Amino acid sequence: MRLENRVAIITGAANGIGLESAKVFAREGAKVVLADFQEEAGSQAAQELVNEGYEAIFVKVDVSDKESVAGMVEKTVSEFGTIDILVNNAGITRDAMLVKMSEEDFKRVLDVNLTGVFLCTQAVVPTMVEKGYGKIINTSSVSGVYGNVGQTNYAASKAAVVGMTKTWAKELGRKGIRVNAVAPGFIETNMVATVPEKVIESLVKTIPVMALGKPTDIANAYLYLASEESHYVNGTVLHVDGGIMM
Ligand code: CAA
Ligand code: NAI
Repeated sequence: MRLENRVAIITGAANGIGLESAKVFAREGAKVVLADFQEEAGSQAAQELVNEGYEAIFVKVDVSDKESVAGMVEKTVSEFGTIDILVNNAGITRDAMLVKMSEEDFKRVLDVNLTGVFLCTQAVVPTMVEKGYGKIINTSSVSGVYGNVGQTNYAASKAAVVGMTKTWAKELGRKGIRVNAVAPGFIETNMVATVPEKVIESLVKTIPVMALGKPTDIANAYLYLASEESHYVNGTVLHVDGGIMM
């Protein structure tokens, strides 16, 4: 097993990519903390993993709230004793064309997708430094690297995630911690379900593999970056997007 006895926090694990990743990590031997602010879906997902014989708990968190994030870390350490892996997967969109975008929607997306990644990483790093080991995986996006119509706020947040990933890879590499990012293309989850059908149709034509991705495509990329197989990979952005961005 590729994550045997590793303790992994996955944020945004009640749905979509995070949920699939929790399942994949559990099957690979990790003790998984499903962290999300959707209590019902998150608790149910964790219970299903436990029923299948895996070690998993749900922790309610708002990643944009420092106190709530501190609670997530405390609960993880009290339940599983340590933290080996953090997947900063929670994220939101509030799409609008530039001129129509409210300041509130601009700021909320940055609060969750940018400040949330900062707060969660800052909160787990002391534990990782103390043990001289850690894997941090951040979630960027094709939008953050390539831009996307209607996503001023989201693209800014996901570009910033790349900058933080590279900075932390430089700061923390010597402490035994690896920091990398995954930049997914368009993946079939609730997030993409909000995109108008005509936009999806024209989009698929621009993807070399001619299809949207599945949550498992991203979960497998997270798995690689969380496992020992990526020991010498640090500060990279792994594009998992069917070749949309070349
Ligand atoms: N490329 C080029 N032009 C586009 C476009 C696109 N992807 N999307 C919209 N436009 C054009 C429209 O054709 C329209 O052009 P005209 O003015 O010439 O008619 C103009 O932009 C305005 O579009 P709308 O009429 O749709 O404007 P709206 O204000 O009603 O809605 C919008 C704007 C909310 C941005 C809506 O177009 C939309 O939801 N677009 C999709 C945004 C998107 O791709 N989001 C990705 C979500 S998934 C995700 O975020 C995951 C990830 O990381 C990739
Ligand atoms: P999703 O909408 O299915 O799941 C996101 C999860 O994050 C939800 O369970 C939600 O409750 C949780 N969440 C949102 N705000 C939170 C907060 N403040 N605190 C705690 N949890 C919170 O979305 P999906 O598609 O699974 O996205 C996962 C990540 O992948 C996001 O960071 C997203 O930006 C990124 N991504 C997704 C792509 C896609 O096409 N689906 C493409 C590129 C990146």
